[in-house]
Amino acid sequence: MQKVKANIIGLSESEKERAISLLTNSFSNLNDSEYTVLPGFCDVHVHFREPGFSYKETIKTGSLAGAHGGYTTVFTMPNLKPVPDSVENIKKQLKIIESDAVIEVYPYASITVGQLGKELAGLDGLAKYSIAFSDDGKGVQTDEMMKRAMLKAKALNKIIVAHCEVESLLFGGYIHDGEYCKTNGHKGICSASEYEMVKRDIELVKETGSAYHVCHVSTKESVELIRQAKKQGLNVSGETAPHYLVLDDSMLKEDGKWKMNPPIRSKEDRLALIEGVLDGTLEIIATDHAPHSNDEKSKGLKGSPFGIVGLETAFPIMYTHFVKTGVMSLEKLIELLAVNPRKRFGLKEKGFSVWKLNEEYEIDPSEFLSQGKATPFEGEKVFGKCYLTAIGDKAVYKK
Ligand code: DOR
Repeated sequence: MQKVKANIIGLSESEKERAISLLTNSFSNLNDSEYTVLPGFCDVHVHFREPGFSYKETIKTGSLAGAHGGYTTVFTMPNLKPVPDSVENIKKQLKIIESDAVIEVYPYASITVGQLGKELAGLDGLAKYSIAFSDDGKGVQTDEMMKRAMLKAKALNKIIVAHCEVESLLFGGYIHDGEYCKTNGHKGICSASEYEMVKRDIELVKETGSAYHVCHVSTKESVELIRQAKKQGLNVSGETAPHYLVLDDSMLKEDGKWKMNPPIRSKEDRLALIEGVLDGTLEIIATDHAPHSNDEKSKGLKGSPFGIVGLETAFPIMYTHFVKTGVMSLEKLIELLAVNPRKRFGLKEKGFSVWKLNEEYEIDPSEFLSQGKATPFEGEKVFGKCYLTAIGDKAVYKK
């Protein structure tokens, strides 16, 4: 074996060989003990906006942002134009992926036609073109529709990936209906709007035996529901995102950068989410990378659209807040970002990234490769800089 000085963590023997060869032959300046090599991350929840909204993000810029963040695989959500609710529509997206993506990009197909919740999409045909089924951006409101979706997904051996949000409980809210909301005269989104749908869906999983994954878990009640479902042996998994683990509503600012759906919730919720991640209830960290234009995001908490970017900050934020502080090991973080998402969705490991874990810097959105720049982490000091991301023997990002 060639001589290697970089610390290689969590790569299989074959991927390790490839990393060593690339670092020895092409990027020998990165083959030093100050660099750490990690397996390529997998984000099960991103919005790349193409086709339909390429002024916010394209498959090219989104995938470049992923590569910059150490991701080699992402799954794109279906709130696009056209919605990938038919083979014809998803093929339009796949064509752009084939020509423009620099990392692996797997699209979700929508659960219902136009994500409108009224009619099941053509799931039989869509199964072979999609990683799983999701109406993310919208919850499937009726029990009847969700039950039919689960039965169909089960027959097709696919996972239902659920955005849980009961629309009749929203009342025009746009941030968590906690202290900050009340004190500052905003309209709130209650926790029940999320967990009531998680509860309903878990009952439907019991009935149908479907495989089920909960998107962007933000409330303590949802964590407990998923914990109990797992104890009962149901085929249920859950993701949360770095912003729900690090921020709470006591930190909110009057700025669209702090607005996403579900909203940043209370400290109690945040602590319950951390516990859920540590005990394995939430086995996946996703970003919900949701870029919008600067103009759109400049309209404050009330007027901006929901969504922040996350691909280029997820690892450094998690590393700084949880690994550096001793809350979790680097190995555990790799499970959350790379191993568990791939295992859950049946994918093999893909590529690697090279980091200087001790490099400290300020998060500066002007350095993002994403077209979206809105993040509540702007200006935050973090550790962990990505120097290279590679797939096979090709660099897809190089600092
Ligand atoms: O914050 C969010 N942004 N939440 C969603 O559910 C949708 C997403 C988007 O598409 O912008």
